[in-house]
Amino acid sequence: MTETNREVPPLELAPARPEDAPELVAFHNRTYGARRTSDFWNWKYRDHLPGKSVYVVARSGGDVVGTQGMIPIRLCLAERVELTGKSENSLVDTGFRGRGLWNRMYREALAQCRDRGMTAVWGFTPVESARRGLARLGFAIHDVMVQAVAVLNTGPMLKVIWNSQESILGRLGAAVATPGAWCWSKLRRRGSKNDIEYGCGPFPAGLATGEIAALYEHIDRDSPDLVHLDMNEEYLRWRVLEHPRFRHELWHARRNGKLVAIALVNESQLLRPAILELAFVEQRDAAGLLARMTELYTASGAGALTFWANRTNRHGRMLLAAARGLGFFSRPARSSFVVKDIADSGEPRMDPSRWLLSALWFEGYAV
Ligand SMILES: CC(C)(COP(=O)(O)OP(=O)(O)OC[C@H]1O[C@@H](n2cnc3c(N)ncnc32)[C@H](O)[C@@H]1OP(=O)(O)O)[C@@H](O)C(=O)NCCC(=O)NCCS
Repeated sequence: MTETNREVPPLELAPARPEDAPELVAFHNRTYGARRTSDFWNWKYRDHLPGKSVYVVARSGGDVVGTQGMIPIRLCLAERVELTGKSENSLVDTGFRGRGLWNRMYREALAQCRDRGMTAVWGFTPVESARRGLARLGFAIHDVMVQAVAVLNTGPMLKVIWNSQESILGRLGAAVATPGAWCWSKLRRRGSKNDIEYGCGPFPAGLATGEIAALYEHIDRDSPDLVHLDMNEEYLRWRVLEHPRFRHELWHARRNGKLVAIALVNESQLLRPAILELAFVEQRDAAGLLARMTELYTASGAGALTFWANRTNRHGRMLLAAARGLGFFSRPARSSFVVKDIADSGEPRMDPSRWLLSALWFEGYAV
């Protein structure tokens, strides 16, 4: 036994029990200086697809010193719906880092994911040591995401920049560039024509049952290989309506009465609403809806409208092209997309260009 092992009580790994929620939330809150509640933990790990989530807790002397969660998410992969795990809440107490604890917890979590019938585990991370740790666990790490931003109003945009996590130099650079970016965005938007009917509001925002599923079926017919959320009313009710922290707005566009685009926006930070999902049939539908959104968010005094997209994917490229026409800038996202196939069936689900990444759990706070 090494000196270190003698000093530290043995580590025990166990699945989280419902009564552990306050302790687990407190462990994360202590580390991040946050004030999350057990409601949020229950919403993530208990309310959706009950019995399918995974949450491994490491304890030393009874105290929580590490966590690894997997939220169960159903994805559509080439005409099939598969259960997958969204990696969440990777955290090791500072006093226990660098000893391979995360790797141990993760291997245990992956085994439980397989037991639940999950076929893949995926997530996003901006953290270099996490990227290295995940590569050691057999994950593919892909830098395929871009973040698109339209500057809508300069004063509020300067506030957004000032409150961002950028370095002082980064913030100064962005502040200096803001008036030019605003002028350019405004000029690009001025000529945009728009013949779509649009609507927005809290879910279901006037949409009839089955309309959203029909939109995704349409998208699947055009791009049969696309990997995307099994987006339906049940999922949206949980993800959007029952979300304990964020306020969401659902936008939609119709052409000749038919639903041709939807966008889901996290409006918790009114100065910079973030589009979490923008699914559409044709590029002009995405452009039409984005144009309406930029108009309305400009009028409501937002500083910027932002979204993420996969630049290696046809759908993502169409969205970025539509956005460019409306004065959005894009830059590489900080987070990598990470994915591991755990079904070992040789399916091509690992190809990042197949993934419609914008909606896969981006909360919109990583600006
Ligand atoms: C990322 C994290 C979960 C890794 O946990 P871990 O159990 O320390 O993982 P490892 O033991 O594999 O060590 C990870 C790296 O930290 C290095 N390290 C060594 N001692 C360390 C210490 N005292 N403190 C921090 N890192 C240390 C390790 O050498 C290793 O480096 P390498 O990747 O170059 O080999 C942990 O650092 C953490 O909780 N970070 C904060 C939360 C976070 O960033 N989560 C990921 C978000 S997706």
